[in-house]
Amino acid sequence: MKAKTPSESRTITTDMVLPSETNHLHHLFGGELLSRMDRAAYITARRHSRRIAVTASVNHVAFNTAIPVGSVVTIEAQISRTFTSSMEVFIDVYLEDRLSGIRTKANEAIYTFVAVDDTMKPVEVAPILPETEIEKQRFDAALRRRQLSLVLAGKMKPSEAHELKALFED
Ligand SMILES: CC(C)(COP(=O)(O)OP(=O)(O)OC[C@H]1O[C@@H](n2cnc3c(N)ncnc32)[C@H](O)[C@@H]1OP(=O)(O)O)[C@@H](O)C(=O)NCCC(=O)NCCS
Repeated sequence: MKAKTPSESRTITTDMVLPSETNHLHHLFGGELLSRMDRAAYITARRHSRRIAVTASVNHVAFNTAIPVGSVVTIEAQISRTFTSSMEVFIDVYLEDRLSGIRTKANEAIYTFVAVDDTMKPVEVAPILPETEIEKQRFDAALRRRQLSLVLAGKMKPSEAHELKALFED
């Protein structure tokens, strides 16, 4: 299957935060942000695979910055690596300053999607060809994240997670 670049399936969404989407402190609910990220990541996985894609796992979410009501939030989702049927999608969340228009990174997350056929059977996806330095770094680290996710899900023995184990050696 012909390799594709991350930019071919990159998805960028921009939306605002309404009062009904916030907590008592008038900050965006974490669950609302997870949902928005899942949607953007799903579109990316679908664009890359041209298949139905299902969320297999949420591997990492960092809520580093609270997002106040009225914020303009931009979510960028792109494939960091594919394996056979699974696709790791990296999601960066940015806030836009009202006066200057300057965007700052607020949060990030990493989701794994699996491409499936109509019977929910996993199907092969195209490989990914990272281009930029950050895309290459994310590609390289994705194998360790996959191993960690599979170990935590009880789908891989820790002794088989060689690249992950290597992080803790020396
Ligand atoms: C995701 C799903 C299709 C995987 O099915 P499965 O029977 O475990 O299939 P396999 O063991 O062949 O795994 C398929 C791929 O998923 C990957 N995978 C499965 N669980 C994973 C996890 N927790 N983390 C990372 N990858 C995972 C496998 O590594 C494999 O990847 P590869 O083909 O690239 O090597 C299945 O668990 C499913 O349908 N889950 C429900 C999905 C859903 O409804 N999501 C919405 C949330 S409600």
